[in-house]
Amino acid sequence: MDLGIKGKVALVTGGSRGLGRQAALSLAREGVDVGICGRTSETLEVAVEEIRSLGVASVGVVGDVSELSSIQGLHEQAVEALGPVDILVNNVGGSRSRSDILGTSLEDLMGTFDLNLFGGYQLMKLVIPHMQECGWGRIINISSIWGREHGGNISYMSAKAGLIAATKHAAVTLAKDGILVNSIAPGSISHPGGAWERFQESNPEEVVQSFVEHNLPMGRFGWPEPVGDLVAFLASERASLITGACIVVDGGQSKSLI
Ligand SMILES: NC(=O)c1ccc[n+]([C@@H]2O[C@H](COP(=O)([O-])OP(=O)(O)OC[C@H]3O[C@@H](n4cnc5c(N)ncnc54)[C@H](OP(=O)(O)O)[C@@H]3O)[C@@H](O)[C@H]2O)c1
Repeated sequence: MDLGIKGKVALVTGGSRGLGRQAALSLAREGVDVGICGRTSETLEVAVEEIRSLGVASVGVVGDVSELSSIQGLHEQAVEALGPVDILVNNVGGSRSRSDILGTSLEDLMGTFDLNLFGGYQLMKLVIPHMQECGWGRIINISSIWGREHGGNISYMSAKAGLIAATKHAAVTLAKDGILVNSIAPGSISHPGGAWERFQESNPEEVVQSFVEHNLPMGRFGWPEPVGDLVAFLASERASLITGACIVVDGGQSKSLI
C-alpha cells in the first residue's frame, strides 16, 4: 500500500529509542525526511544514521521537551535542516512522580504535564501555520491506555488524559484545514532502554510472570513496530477521514469498551 507521503518532512520528539525511534523508522521507510530530538547527543546520532541509511534526510536536535523555553529553538533547528514540518509526532512522555495524590507534589504534577502535554502543545502551535498554508498536515500525539482509563500514577494518568483531550479539541478546530490530529494509546511495550525492560531486569521472575499473567492477554509485553507503523498510517493519505481519534495498541490489555 502506497501511503503517499514521500518527500514530506516529519519531526518526532524522543526519536532515539523505543516508540519514537520506531515511528521515525516507519516514516523514513515511506520516504519521509525525519528530524528527531532527545537529550543525549550520542544516542541521537546513532538513530539519525539509522534513519539516513533508509535513504532519507535526517537531523538530530539535542533538547529537552519539558524545558518550554527551548521548544522554539528546537523547532527552528529542525526546520533549518529539513524544511517546514508537515508531520509532527509528539512522542516524549513519562512521569516525574510515581505516586498517588498523597505522594505527589503539585510541582511534580506540573513537571509531568510539561513533559507529556505542554511541550507538545507548544510544538503543535509552532507547526500549525505551515500546515494551514499547505492545507495539509498531520499531528500524532503518543498518549497511553492510562490516559483513557485508571492506571499508573496520578500525574501520568492526568497528563495523558489531557493530551487525548487536547488532541480531540485541536482536531475539531483544524479539520477544515486538512490537518488531521490523532493520538495513540499504547499498552505496556518493552524495548531496549525502556521502562518495561528495566522492570523485567530489576524484578524476580515470578513478579514479572505475575504481571504478564494478570495484565497482558497475549502473554507477553508489547513491541514497538505496530506503534511505529500506525504512526506512518495516520500520517498518510490513506488516513484522510481519521481525525480526533485515540487508537489503542495494547494487545487487549486495556479494560475500556470505548
Ligand atoms: N513503552 C510503553 O510501554 C508505553 C506505554 C504507553 C505509553 N507510552 C508513551 O510512549 C512514549 C514513548 O515511550 P518509550 O517507552 O518509547 O519512552 P522512552 O524509553 O522514555 O524513550 C523516550 C525517548 O524520548 C527521549 N526523551 C526522554 N525524555 C525527553 C525529554 N524530556 N526531552 C526530549 N527527549 C526526551 C529519549 O532520549 P533521551 O533519554 O536521550 O532524552 C528517548 O529517545 C511516551 O510518551 C510514553 O509515555 C509508552
